[in-house]
Amino acid sequence: MCGIFGYIGKGLSTASLIDGLSKLEYRGYDSCGLAGIKEEDSQKIFLKKRAGKIPNLREELKSSLKDRFTNSILHTRWATHGQPNRINAHPHYDCKKELAIAHNGIIENYLELKKKLQKKGHRFISDTDTEVIAHLIERNYKGSLEEAIYKTVKMLEGSFALGVISKKDPNKLIGVRKGSPLIVGLGKKGNFLASDIPALLPFTKRAIYLKDDEIAVLEKGRIKITSFKKKALRPKVEKVKIKAKAAEKRGYKHFMLKEIFEQPAVLEKTFSLYCKGSRIHFPQLNISDKLLKKIKRVYITACGTAFHAGLVATYFFEKHCHLDVEIDVSSEFRYRNINYGKNDLLIAISQSGETADTLAAVKAAKQKGVKVLSICNVLGSSLIKESHGTIYTLAGPEIGVASTKAYTAQLFSLYLFGLYLGALRKTIKPKDKENLLKELKKMPLHQKEILKSSDSIKKIARKFSRLGCFLFLGRGINYPSALEGALKLKEISYIPAEGYPAGEMKHGPIALIDEYRAVVCIAPQDELYEKVISNMQETKARRGNVLGILNYNDKEAALLSDEVIYVPKLKRQIFSPLLVALTLQLFAYFVAKNLRCEIDQPRNLAKSVTVE
Ligand code: M6R
Repeated sequence: MCGIFGYIGKGLSTASLIDGLSKLEYRGYDSCGLAGIKEEDSQKIFLKKRAGKIPNLREELKSSLKDRFTNSILHTRWATHGQPNRINAHPHYDCKKELAIAHNGIIENYLELKKKLQKKGHRFISDTDTEVIAHLIERNYKGSLEEAIYKTVKMLEGSFALGVISKKDPNKLIGVRKGSPLIVGLGKKGNFLASDIPALLPFTKRAIYLKDDEIAVLEKGRIKITSFKKKALRPKVEKVKIKAKAAEKRGYKHFMLKEIFEQPAVLEKTFSLYCKGSRIHFPQLNISDKLLKKIKRVYITACGTAFHAGLVATYFFEKHCHLDVEIDVSSEFRYRNINYGKNDLLIAISQSGETADTLAAVKAAKQKGVKVLSICNVLGSSLIKESHGTIYTLAGPEIGVASTKAYTAQLFSLYLFGLYLGALRKTIKPKDKENLLKELKKMPLHQKEILKSSDSIKKIARKFSRLGCFLFLGRGINYPSALEGALKLKEISYIPAEGYPAGEMKHGPIALIDEYRAVVCIAPQDELYEKVISNMQETKARRGNVLGILNYNDKEAALLSDEVIYVPKLKRQIFSPLLVALTLQLFAYFVAKNLRCEIDQPRNLAKSVTVE
């Protein structure tokens, strides 16, 4: 949550700086700001901020878009402490307006620090936790900005990534990382700080991923990285492989739509990278076959959409790997007292790799000696650093706040891992593995077929978008699809939507059904099909509006549906969530579009939840 972008070097225009920041807008869009030292005037820190999204800041600065900055920090905020207004927007000054600071994270002891600083005469103007950092650095400054920062970080509790500039040391841009991501970009004419790679892509592909408890001092042609204890470090410079255009809309109206349409390509790429014939190989798995053979129990932890992917994997691992699997959302998992066995494995799933609860759950489990495998989409993320091994999901940058391609990439990778495990543990016969792999390989084709029906999904969505409440029902392997469909719809359209295992309908949710509400029934022809058909009957009997997610040619269920979205029938319906997901993503997208909602940046949300 919150995005930081910074630059030091040969003058860079306001317009370019704002372009860099705009690549981080998915991280928060409550307010934004720029603080910097202009080429022609190193005597003061220029600062402008605005409530709302980045176009507001661009408007505020429209007369100075060509001005050039030699040192700067910019910020886009997801509010934690204090309302999303201009005063609480970052960057924040100290009392004398000699330094400015941008922050991502939470300072847990800020109230205590604030009181102490106020007693010593510091004047605060915002309600944020961040402002204490500016005043602490001011207080700790005894001639060296770096020393003041070393002293300050020791006083802070919580998580923080910081960007700091000072007119007393105008040739330095300082980045600090503890618990929130921060990356250094090495450019030809200057150096950069950014919360995530997309902001660096227009400027450079050389990056250093800071680790926790590290401080980076950036100068025009020099970068120094030390630990909080002042130990000099030799960081690894990595070449970023992502193309700049991967983080652009490329003709689509929204990132979400583009990302929905990218799914077949993501699956194709994943298959070709991880499968050679019937051999499956994960280059960064790092957990020995010997250990994987011995696993007794698998725990899975994740949040939101990633949790739903984990839930699908639970069914697959139980069926095909004969494993006991326990799954919980990370915010609960981290507080449970689990007695891990010697041969247990924890799988943590996260698109961003920065979700605070998932990271905390992993750290707690590691302390108990459990091996951790992460399923993660972001190279260099904190989760990857915390894990013993990783399976990268190859979705590429996902910018839309509603997760789409990252979800099916997680599903696909988890299926492949399940096949790998099953073969290793001999719970899947070689012939079966081959057949399952063959079916998986066809998934991109089936997905393409579904994408072709997007116009008819659009029409159905128009009809349903007038309804006030949605129930999503699914069973077995598609129970998670129901949860995910409901999450997608509510997060981008704000229509109340609940996902339920269809069998639970009679235990309460049925009370909601009437002619003003909708029930989305996910009913592929698998072993639980008949049971979902009964739910459809029961819904119709109560005049509910039924949207059926059905296999082609399913005339029986079509008769019970007001509208139908079809998916291809699979030989192995266990893979059907990979197809159902696309129908529900498109449905949610078109409902939200019809209601004129902010699809890529839904209210109150941010792409990665880096606070508890
Ligand atoms: O980055 P992560 O996968 O750890 O994020 C987990 C959730 O915050 C995320 O999936 C969230 O639920 C999405 N907005 C759903 O579309």
